[in-house]
Amino acid sequence: MNTRERKVVNAQITAIGKYLPEKVLDNKYFEQIVDTSDEWIRTRTGIVERRKLEEGGTSVLATRALENLMENSGLKPEEIDVIIVATVTPDMFFPATSCLVQDNVGAKNAWGFDLSGACSGFLFALKAGASLIQSGDYKKVVVIGADKMSSIVDYTDRTTCVLFGDAGAAVLLEPTEDLDYGIQDAILHCDGSGRDALYMAAGGSAMPASHETVDKRLHYIYQDGQRVFKVAVKGMADVSVEIMKRNNLTAEDVAYLVPHQANLRIISATANRMGISEDQVVINIDKYGNTTAATIPLGLADYYEAGKLKKGDKLILSAFGAGYTFGSVYLVWSMD
Ligand code: UT7
Repeated sequence: MNTRERKVVNAQITAIGKYLPEKVLDNKYFEQIVDTSDEWIRTRTGIVERRKLEEGGTSVLATRALENLMENSGLKPEEIDVIIVATVTPDMFFPATSCLVQDNVGAKNAWGFDLSGACSGFLFALKAGASLIQSGDYKKVVVIGADKMSSIVDYTDRTTCVLFGDAGAAVLLEPTEDLDYGIQDAILHCDGSGRDALYMAAGGSAMPASHETVDKRLHYIYQDGQRVFKVAVKGMADVSVEIMKRNNLTAEDVAYLVPHQANLRIISATANRMGISEDQVVINIDKYGNTTAATIPLGLADYYEAGKLKKGDKLILSAFGAGYTFGSVYLVWSMD
C-alpha cells in the first residue's frame, strides 16, 4: 500500500509554447477555389487567414509546440512525467500521437495518451492533467492541443473549408501549494445528441474506409453550421456564466475570457452574457481560424508572449465543439 503523505495542491501552468506552420492561406486564396468572398468570411466568422501544415501530421504541430515550451522554460525532456495530446486529427488511429511526441522530444520517462474532445479537447485534457498533478503521483504533466484540420477539410466545400486552420500549443502543469493559484474549477460536459451536427462519418470502426466512402467524400468534416451555431452560443455562454457564479466572480474580477475560436459572433455573445468588455476577451481567430484543440492554449501563448497576462490574473477558459462537448475552466495565472 502506498502510505506516502499526499499534500493538497493545485495544478498551475508554469510554461507555455506554440507552433504555427509557415504557410498562410488568406481569404483571397479561398475566393479562387470556392464560391466565397473575403467579405463573407470576415463578417460571418471573423477569420482573415489561417495556417496550413504542408509536411507531416499533427505530431509535428504537437512536437514543435512542446519544443518551443522547452526552449522558453528550460524544461528537460527527461523531466516530463506525462504527455497528453488533445486532438481529433491524430497521425493515425494507433499508436497515439502522444507516443510520437514522446519519442520525438526524447521524453524517456514519460507515459501519455491522446484525448478526443474536439474543440473542448484542451479543456478536458487540462482537467485530466490537473487531476494527475493533484493525485500527487506526477509533478510535470504536459498538455498539448494540436490539430491538423487541413487533413480532414474538404477544399471543395465552401461552408467548412474557410473555417479551419492548423496549429499546436502546449502548457506544462506543475503542483502549487499556494491554492490561490492554478486551476480552481472546471465545468465540463458531453452531449452526444449532437453527434450528427458536426462529425467525420467514415474511417472509424462504424464505417471503415472503402472505395465507396472515399467516392462519397465521407472522410471530411461535415457540419450543420446553423444548428451548431445556435447551441454553441447558448452552451458556451451558459457554462461561462455558471462558473463565474459558482466562484463568486464579477465581470470586473475576470482579467480575460479565453474562448474557443470558432466564430467571432459566438465569442461576442458569450462575452456579452458574462457582462465583460471586448478588451477582456482573447481573440486570435482573425489570424488562425478554428484550430480545434489548439485555439485555447494558442490564445494563452499569444497573450502571454505579448505581455498581456499577469500573475494573479483570473481567467475563464470556455469552449464548445463537436460531440457536443463543452465546458469552462477557471484558473488564476501564475507565471510572471
Ligand atoms: O468549433 C466547433 C464548433 N463549430 C462552431 O461553433 C461553428 C458554428 N457555426 C458557425 O460559425 C456558422 O454557422 C458558420 C460560420 C459555419 C456559417 O455562418 P452562418 O451565418 O450560420 O451561415 P449559414 O450557414 O446560415 O449560411 C448563410 C448563407 C447560405 O446561403 P443561402 O442558403 O442563404 O443562399 C450559405 O450557403 O451563406 C452561404 N455560405 C457561404 N457564402 C459564401 C456558407 N458558406 C459560405 C462561404 N462563402 N464560405
